[in-house]
Amino acid sequence: MAKSKSVKTPTVKAATATNSAATISTTAPTASTRELRIGLVGYGFMGRAHANAIRQVPHFFKTGRKPVLQAVCGRDEPKVREFAARWDARSIETDWRKLVAREDIDAVDICTPNDSHMEIALACIKHGKMILCEKPLALNGKQGEAMVKAVEKAKLPNLVWYNYRFLPAVSLAKNIADSGELGKIFHYRANFLQDWTISTDLPQGGTGLWRLDAKVAGSGVTGDLLAHCIDTARWINGDIVAVSAMTETFIKERVHTATGKKQPVKIDDACAFLARFANGSLAVFESTRYARGHKALYTFEINGEHKSLAWDLHDLNRLSYFDHGVPSDRRGWSSIHCTDGDHPYAGNWWVPGLGLGYEHSFVHGLAEFLGALDDPKAPRRFPDFRHALGTQYVCDAVLEAARTQKWVKVRTA
Ligand SMILES: NC(=O)c1ccc[n+]([C@@H]2O[C@H](COP(=O)([O-])OP(=O)(O)OC[C@H]3O[C@@H](n4cnc5c(N)ncnc54)[C@H](O)[C@@H]3O)[C@@H](O)[C@H]2O)c1
Repeated sequence: MAKSKSVKTPTVKAATATNSAATISTTAPTASTRELRIGLVGYGFMGRAHANAIRQVPHFFKTGRKPVLQAVCGRDEPKVREFAARWDARSIETDWRKLVAREDIDAVDICTPNDSHMEIALACIKHGKMILCEKPLALNGKQGEAMVKAVEKAKLPNLVWYNYRFLPAVSLAKNIADSGELGKIFHYRANFLQDWTISTDLPQGGTGLWRLDAKVAGSGVTGDLLAHCIDTARWINGDIVAVSAMTETFIKERVHTATGKKQPVKIDDACAFLARFANGSLAVFESTRYARGHKALYTFEINGEHKSLAWDLHDLNRLSYFDHGVPSDRRGWSSIHCTDGDHPYAGNWWVPGLGLGYEHSFVHGLAEFLGALDDPKAPRRFPDFRHALGTQYVCDAVLEAARTQKWVKVRTA
């Protein structure tokens, strides 16, 4: 099996900067490439993002196994057929139980709402399937523990789709932090701001709106949005050990799509929390769906003794960089356009200067997963179930801290 040379890691050199055509042709799979036959469960927002990644990976990354969309599964047959036709899925299923039992499926990609992750994952494990699971790992730490225990016992490759870490600028921030050049870290801060639930007329429950139903989502912005910020923060700055938090549910009742009646809203509409990292640094995190004017503003900043880094999803190809080591009259924030051949992943795509987008984060995540199948000893850049359980523990601790109004210690995964 060929080793992946195209997935950028701190230990793998980037392709040359002027290699757009060469990269594509030399990384195309050979006729003998073995397929990784993926069964996709759920054809909503993430179903589309992942179907796109499955199709794109072999065009831009050299991996030992070529991912193919062997089947797509959803409960509404006409809609599943339409999705399968659009994305060239080889077959369909309308019951995920049948999908996970199929002999011709190697890996299952779980793109359903949070309350189904554990049940589907445990069934996959029973049938010996690799699992790619959307975030958050589960509704809570208890469910996550059962998933980690089962997947590790079965020794099945697994990934959780915390995708932002696979953007070139975020990945570069990780590389810079790992190099130690930031010096002692003092602060980390992150925000994830949206404004789509301000209307009192918005119901809870159903496609997309299941996020407002605590039974299906587990929590509100904490598990949905802050979980992304926590994954990135833990990846770049290490473990979070303790949190203190406040949450609010601004709209207390909403009509439930299933019953047509007003029901209490049990999710957190907004959450702000303070955190301490194991390395001694302090953090402030904030997320809300009530920040009028913001659609998906994810930002983070890290301040070290020598340098600071900052990133903004609205300008996702850029990493802001401040170096105190520069002569004082030249000091200032610079903006690194992470599109050159030696930036993570960028060399696999176009010529320098041409940016990537949100969808590429999923392509890169899948390429990393496939790269690790080729070479299990290669450095891991993707979060597995155990790492995602650590993030789940932080979310659980945040919600407990908000409930009890006390500092809460975070469990170690
Ligand atoms: N990584 C990210 O950036 C990101 C972004 C959005 C959502 N997510 C996560 O992805 C998951 C799905 O979110 P979404 O936005 O795609 O939701 P969505 O509502 O757009 O799609 C959910 C899909 O799951 C299907 N589904 C629900 N129950 C099912 C069942 N029992 N069997 C088969 N299909 C079923 C629905 O029909 C729908 O196709 C969630 O866990 C969410 O937290 C991650």
